[in-house]
Amino acid sequence: MRKIRTAILISGSGSNMEALIRAAQAPDYPAEIVLVISNRPEAAGLAKAENLGVPARAIDHKAYDSRKAFEQDVDAVLRKHEVELVCNAGFMRLLSPWFVGRWRERILNIHPALLPKFPGLHTHERALAAGETVHGCTIHIVDEGMDTGRILAQAKVPVYRDDTPETLAKRVLAQEHKLYPETLKSCASGLLNAR
Ligand code: GRF
Repeated sequence: MRKIRTAILISGSGSNMEALIRAAQAPDYPAEIVLVISNRPEAAGLAKAENLGVPARAIDHKAYDSRKAFEQDVDAVLRKHEVELVCNAGFMRLLSPWFVGRWRERILNIHPALLPKFPGLHTHERALAAGETVHGCTIHIVDEGMDTGRILAQAKVPVYRDDTPETLAKRVLAQEHKLYPETLKSCASGLLNAR
């Protein structure tokens, strides 16, 4: 079965990455995870990926003079691995218009809020401060803006009166781990069927 060659970009613990890798181990899953890249060499997700049998490498953005030079190396590594689709999973760098243009409609991101509400950081704190009763997560296409691309899927969770940012984050993260594999599945199927 032909599968869409997919890379995951991370910066941290990689729990969404792990959910994607595990889902993609199913024989009939339409995407295969061929590579994990972290912009932070100390990211725990790198070892997790290797343990799950996926090649992982650090490309440290701090080692580059410019965003473009960093992204050129990421782009070159993705192309060397014949990657067709990129999933950002806790990847904490904004991608430039140059990179987004090279991968137009081919980068997904997971965001821990119900976009267009709460783009950017500290979403759980902000949802609580705003008195939201429903919160959740969004998978979207990456465009030139920050968390502004076309929305592909969302999952909602209730907000309880005694929630802290941590309890709310945990509830949202459980949904992220289901929503991302489902959404990658439908995206990859769509790409396969478009051929
Ligand atoms: C997730 O909440 C994701 O939505 C956000 O960063 C967190 C990453 O967690 N962008 P993990 O690295 O997947 O565990």
